[in-house]
Amino acid sequence: MSRDKVYLALAEQPGQYLSGQELSRKLGISRAAVWKAVEALRRKGYEIEASPGRGYCLSAGDRLEQRDVEASLAVPRGGWRVLTEVDSTNTECKRQAMAGAPDGTVILADEQTAGKGRRGRSFLSPPGMGLYLSILWRPDCSPERLLPLTALTAVAACRAIERLGGVSPSVKWPNDLVMNGRKVCGILTEMSLEGESGHVEYVIAGIGINCRQRQEDFPPELQETAGSLDMALPVTVRRADLAAALIEELDLLRRDVLFRPETWLEEYRDRCLTTGSRVQVIRGDERREAEALSVDDRFGLTVRYDSGETETVRSGEVSVRGLYGYVEEGRH
Ligand code: BTN
Repeated sequence: MSRDKVYLALAEQPGQYLSGQELSRKLGISRAAVWKAVEALRRKGYEIEASPGRGYCLSAGDRLEQRDVEASLAVPRGGWRVLTEVDSTNTECKRQAMAGAPDGTVILADEQTAGKGRRGRSFLSPPGMGLYLSILWRPDCSPERLLPLTALTAVAACRAIERLGGVSPSVKWPNDLVMNGRKVCGILTEMSLEGESGHVEYVIAGIGINCRQRQEDFPPELQETAGSLDMALPVTVRRADLAAALIEELDLLRRDVLFRPETWLEEYRDRCLTTGSRVQVIRGDERREAEALSVDDRFGLTVRYDSGETETVRSGEVSVRGLYGYVEEGRH
């Protein structure tokens, strides 16, 4: 069918023009048939631009498909897959881990139907809006050695966004990415231990980045605190490019996280906007107000309670909330 032939020819080079004459010659159909096919594709919802003298061009858009991410990776890398829809990329990674998938396996999805957040919450993951990525690692180590992972995954995500968007996100301890006072990215790390040795069987880092949402796209209870890259950046970052950049930054993190985490520590401290703020430390039903003082060498947050007592809290055991809105701004 001419329509499909025209689509395939344009989709070989999205964002680039092909003249009616070239298409007609290449596909062995008349120029009128090319024009009819373009009209039929438009009716189906494809964005095809037509320019006199240049021809037709399929909008590069913001698809998240295997070939788009492939084209964006600086160096080809195997072991990753883009799914149209999945319950949760973390859950899918876990299923793959149990089926023997190797270290470095990456699962991406355009949509999650049961995206997971921390503390049993859900993570809204509508199609076409965000980047949902999980990576599976099988480091041969004890769980303590992975303490920095939660915080450093946030640094890797910040670097990927900064590379493409030119603006540097901040981190709310331990690992929410914040831009203009709004959370644009959440991270959930999950780990499985070997029963006998207590060694790590595998660990999964799952990253969810809001990309295309406008404020009104979030449910009312999140409209004051959630944000997206489109809301924060002067440029549009394509999800496929972001996926490739994130995979590259996570591969660098995999190299360093066990043996050189200290080389990422200063960057984490610079990006962390919790230190210096008034916070509430929440442990079960107990809530205590404190001042966040600093991040220690093992990525714990040292706080001073109003009683004068100090404590270093670790991610997982407590949750820390800013007292004035989602985060405080303007200190760094
Ligand atoms: C949070 O902020 O509470 C953590 C959100 C983590 C969301 C990501 S999206 C990719 C991966 N798959 C999931 O189900 N969750 C993580």
